[in-house]
Order: sequence, then C-alpha cells, then structure tokens
Amino acid sequence: MHYDTILVTHRGPTAVVALNRPDKLNAMSMMLKAELVRALADLDKHEETRTIVLTGSGDKAFTAGADIHEFQGRTAIEQWRMYEHGTLYDAVDRTAKPLLAMINGYCFGGGLELAMACDIRIASDRATLGQTEINIGIIPGGGGSQRLPRLVGLGNALKLTLTGNRVDAAEALRVGLVDEVVPHSRLEQRTFEIADRIASRSALAVRLAKAAVRASARLPLDQGRLYEQSLFTLVMESEDKEEGVRAFLEKRDAKWKDH
Ligand code: COA
Repeated sequence: MHYDTILVTHRGPTAVVALNRPDKLNAMSMMLKAELVRALADLDKHEETRTIVLTGSGDKAFTAGADIHEFQGRTAIEQWRMYEHGTLYDAVDRTAKPLLAMINGYCFGGGLELAMACDIRIASDRATLGQTEINIGIIPGGGGSQRLPRLVGLGNALKLTLTGNRVDAAEALRVGLVDEVVPHSRLEQRTFEIADRIASRSALAVRLAKAAVRASARLPLDQGRLYEQSLFTLVMESEDKEEGVRAFLEKRDAKWKDH
C-alpha cells in the first residue's frame, strides 16, 4: 500500500504508523487524515498485526494538529460534508486492535484529539500537549470537548480548552491526559514493551476486553455491565479460554489460537 504523508512499518506483531510531514510538524492535512483512515482499516484486517502504534516522524512533533491552512475559506457546508463522510476520529474508534499513541513531541489540537481517541498514551518527557484550537478562534471538532473531560475531569478540560495553554508531559501525566511519561531516549523501547506484552495475549481476548472497557465511555453502568456480560459469555466459547485455563492448571505458557 502506497502512502504520501504517512509511513507504515512493521516490527514483529506491531505496526507503526508515523505521520510523516516533519517539516510541517506532521500537521494533519486532509490527505494525511484520509491516508491514516485507510491504513487503520488495512491494519485492522492484517492478520500478523496485533497492535498499532501511532507516532510522528522527526524529533519535534507527534502532530501540531489539523493543517491550519485548510481552514482558510472552508464553508459550513463543506465542513458538514466532511463530518457526513466520517472522520479520522470515527475510524480510530472503529479500530478493534489496540492503538497506542507514542507522543514524541508537540501534540496539539486535532493531534491531541487523535491521541485521546487511542487506547493508551505514552509520552516522551519532551512532549508538550494542548487543546489549542481557541488560539485560532475555533473550538475542538474531533471529539476533544467530549474525550478530554472524560480523561481529565471537567475543570481541567475547561481550563485546557478555554485557555488554549500548553502543558508539559509531567503536568499531562498528573491530570491523566497521558498514561506514562518516559525519558525521550526510552520512548520507543517502552512503547514497544507495552505493545509486545499486549501482543503476547490472546488476540480474541484483547479485542473483547478493549471493546468492553471502551464501552464504559458511552454506556451507563447498567448497560455497560450487560455488554460486558454478553462479551464474557461469548469468551466462554473460545478455544483460548480452554487453553488459557488448561495452561494455568498445567503450569505452562498458553499457546493462543486467537479464537
Ligand atoms: N498546520 C499547518 N502548518 C503548521 C501547523 C499546523 N497546525 N503547525 C506548524 N505548522 C508549520 C508552520 O507553518 C511551519 O511551516 P513553514 O516552515 O512552512 O512556515 C512549520 O510547521 C514549523 O512550524 P513553526 O511554527 O515554525 O515551529 P515552532 O517550533 O516555532 O512552533 C508550534 C511550533 C507547534 C508551537 C507552532 O507551529 C504552532 O503553534 N502550531 C499550531 C499549533 C496549533 O494550534 N494546532 C491546533 C490547530 S487547530
């Protein structure tokens, strides 16, 4: 598959998708977003890929957000059509495999929305994050107003969104915007360590667990518990459940079949 604005590489069971416009701090043009949507759909179907890491090319940015040039002259109707066709953030939501955001530098606006749509966020100690749309007279449009308060609480979300201030990695960790911060030189190693650990589990169980946990963001507790129970009931039928339990009782490593 050929792409102009992203790079897809494979490292064992982990696919690494790098936003690749380093001279523009990996700003997300429409083309880049469309290519990301395509890559995620392909990788979700690709059998050998068990986890997906999103990151930015170069040493400065994860992504500095949506390409601001493309806002110029855009009409309301054009914006509405873009939403009708589905967004990058919807595509991230649809991805069944675990997605890790490896935040290697600037992570602003739509870039923060992209990272927040992922499952796990690992940041370099050099990263700077912000919900910065207000600085150019707009508001978050990729789910930021909804995902940010779920991650950091209403007060922190409003503070970040209304001020447009940037925070460093330590502050992002403190408020729960990222899940782990590591020295820049260890970012890849630590991210792949987590990705490999997930990849060593039953792929079926991983997908069901991800679906159950993510449902908690959109369902009330009683409905979420029912959803969890239906997935738990389903997993009772899996060969991996039989194998996992047998391996535990026989004191050996399980050999997953992923079904
Ligand atoms: N969209 C389009 N281009 C962008 C961009 C964006 N979101 N962010 C950076 N760029 C481009 C710059 O225009 C510049 O291109 P040029 O060399 O052709 O002029 C290049 O990337 C480097 O950016 P520059 O501003 O020179 O780097 P810096 O290190 O001085 O500053 C930032 C970095 C991230 C602080 C600054 O670029 C910035 O504030 N960007 C916008 C961030 C933002 O608000 N994003 C949310 C958009 S909704």
